[in-house]
Amino acid sequence: MKRIGVLTSGGDAPGMNAAIRAVVRKSIFMGREVFGIHRGYLGLINGEIKKMNLGSVADIIHRGGTILLTARCEEFKTEEGQQKAIDNLRKYGIEGLIVIGGDGSFRGALDLGKRGFPVIGVPGTIDNDIPCTDYSIGFDTAINTVIEIINKIRDTATSHERTFVIEVMGRDSGWIALESGLAGGAESILVPEVKFNIEQICDKLLKGYRRGKLHSIIIVAEGAARGFDIGEAIKERTGFETRVTVLGHIQRGGTPTAMDRILASRLGAKAVDLLIQGERNKMVGIKGKDIVAIDLDKVLSEKKEFDFNIYELANTLSI
Ligand code: F6P
Repeated sequence: MKRIGVLTSGGDAPGMNAAIRAVVRKSIFMGREVFGIHRGYLGLINGEIKKMNLGSVADIIHRGGTILLTARCEEFKTEEGQQKAIDNLRKYGIEGLIVIGGDGSFRGALDLGKRGFPVIGVPGTIDNDIPCTDYSIGFDTAINTVIEIINKIRDTATSHERTFVIEVMGRDSGWIALESGLAGGAESILVPEVKFNIEQICDKLLKGYRRGKLHSIIIVAEGAARGFDIGEAIKERTGFETRVTVLGHIQRGGTPTAMDRILASRLGAKAVDLLIQGERNKMVGIKGKDIVAIDLDKVLSEKKEFDFNIYELANTLSI
């Protein structure tokens, strides 16, 4: 394999640039040429393909977002779209493609794989909802962003003796809420994986209040409920002064943490190794300390496990 292509697709995630850098530099180190595809699958269909060199990825390891740009592309879901993409890859002599993104991006990658084009997926999403890997690129940065904001909200929540509801991203997954909630010392964490009971949440708040607690923080995953609805429900039942903050896309930006840069560098480099070794239709992931390769078919047929032990621990510690 002489020429490798790389693209980012779906929602951006901090650390994607570090992954692109790893793919480009490892490919060149291995004597291969590498091409960057702009705007994900949309750019692949439109032929937005440029050769990259060592300098193309200089000074990007610390930057959030993706220098290759990203897009969500409906046309790629069609057979014609996929054929155009393969034609463009062949036009540039690209023999293998590395796709950095989430599960939607991997579905697209597998479509190419099933048409005979070698692909390797690199998990990049703040949601951490990809099965077969402990973490995806961007998650660590996102939860650090969330806890920084929880700290700030705590200051004002304490001063005014208020209850704060903070809605976080995660799509259908509760991982961001779970880990930022534990690290941020939230009183309650609402996730789509566990049915919640608003009466119990309010009882806990009232108990805390009777003990002299000055403020409370409730973390709500967007997949569990709307933060504003929870805020209303709490106010109605407890009479507490309640405020709601929806964090939104702030969670997708910012300089990646060391953890995300290291993960991205390891996964990006491994993806190149796999392509060169003749592997195809795999995803690279991290299990414990090890970088592993898993069939994309398997990844897409499973659901990411939720860590109920961490959830229980968070409940125990916020008694
Ligand atoms: O998948 C990443 C994510 O940020 C989700 O947490 C969120 O639900 C979604 O993307 C938002 O998508 P968009 O940026 O298209 O509004």
